[in-house]
Amino acid sequence: MASTSPSYVRTGGGEFLRSLDVDRALARVDLAGSIVHTEMLERVGLVSKEDARRIIGGLRAIHREIAHGSFPWRDDLEDVHTNIEVRLTQLIGPAGGRLHTARSRNDQVALDERLYLREVVYGTTQLLESFQRMLVDHAAGEQGTLLPGYTHLQRAQPVSLAHHLLAHFWRLERDLDRLLATERRANVSPLGAGALAGSTLPIDPAWVARRLGFDRAFENSLDAVSDRDPFAELLFDLALLATHLSVLGEEWVLWTTAEFGFARAGERVGSGSSLMPQKRNADVAELARAKAARVTGDLVTLLGTLKGIPLAYDRDLQEDKAPVRDAVRTIDLTLAALASAFEDLAFDRTRMAEAASDPALLATDLAEELVRQGTPFREAHEAVGAYVRGTEGSIGSASARRALPALRSAADSLFDPAHALERRATPGGPSPTSVGVQIDRARELLAAHGPSLSSLGHRVELIEELLNEERK
Ligand code: ARG
Repeated sequence: MASTSPSYVRTGGGEFLRSLDVDRALARVDLAGSIVHTEMLERVGLVSKEDARRIIGGLRAIHREIAHGSFPWRDDLEDVHTNIEVRLTQLIGPAGGRLHTARSRNDQVALDERLYLREVVYGTTQLLESFQRMLVDHAAGEQGTLLPGYTHLQRAQPVSLAHHLLAHFWRLERDLDRLLATERRANVSPLGAGALAGSTLPIDPAWVARRLGFDRAFENSLDAVSDRDPFAELLFDLALLATHLSVLGEEWVLWTTAEFGFARAGERVGSGSSLMPQKRNADVAELARAKAARVTGDLVTLLGTLKGIPLAYDRDLQEDKAPVRDAVRTIDLTLAALASAFEDLAFDRTRMAEAASDPALLATDLAEELVRQGTPFREAHEAVGAYVRGTEGSIGSASARRALPALRSAADSLFDPAHALERRATPGGPSPTSVGVQIDRARELLAAHGPSLSSLGHRVELIEELLNEERK
């Protein structure tokens, strides 16, 4: 095969030097980038109309081969870029040798990575958005479902299941926003930077950028070939998202224990034990917890790779793809598994209400009632504290009336858990009214993502169109 291998790859064989196992996932975007590069070469007169037609036809034929699984991948060739170029020349002859005019694999791989990022952000945001919708829809039915709120994992004050689920919604909402912002910042084409210093040939990077749906082309060729900020940002976004999903997982683990008993795990949440017949473990939730460590590891791997490499391209950068691919795959699987598990999580509202009806959760309410009647908060806090200590924590309306006569007739309603929830009607608070406002706002925001997601979707479709378009 040596006759069809360009000299620059023959020196770089071997598993250690190869990136093919990871970067073959870039084949589609690589082909689309090459098609547009060829169109540009034709426009500026560097490739004839006839050769451009041959090259683009060959690239589309390669796309079909890859899609059908008949592409002859060669692992004696370093990467996806070389595999495609060598195959192109096999298919169309010497015209194939014109494809790489005024281009290096350095700007080529940087371009591929940005197009790939566009696709994966689109995929992950769709999963994330539907997960968020599921939380909001579920919350809408649980506004009056009492649940103890916790600090330090100690029961603190009453909230509702709706309020709790929505707290997770807002974290995920910021994750979605971050992913979209990362994609927007990354939407700059690096093609035309060459190996590091552009080209002596009259290429048109701005035209390429527009044709591929980018906002603009790069400003500095050294920066363009070495910038991996888009991947670093993406990995941070995914690591934080994984962290949020891990917290959710940890709560499901706790809630499905006999000790909490706030939920029962159905079959899609976990499995049984091979030894103990009574067991039903929340495996999905536990794995969601562990996956966060893995995605954080992916982020640290990339940052560690980037921190010591001088401008511009260094081969270290080849190692950037594996952590990204791993993180994206891990997150997508986690979101899908948790979404399916959520449907199979049966909340035990009675257990939640029992736990939330612990009168000790309302000690703050007593102090706030005294404040309403004019007592300074510090004094009220002292007085209620003394009363709680005096009863060893088992407070109730009769003893409260005796110890804190100012409470008088208010005492009964103060200890009513449903009233306690309704009273927390401050903006962003857990009362059913406040939560109703929250749900409206959440739904507004979800609807507002529509335009960004569909503009992203159009830019993703562009790749598919380029690969399939019949040349006039
Ligand atoms: N396989 C390389 C990568 O993934 C492609 C760029 C190679 N450039 C080079 N000068 N060796 O980064």
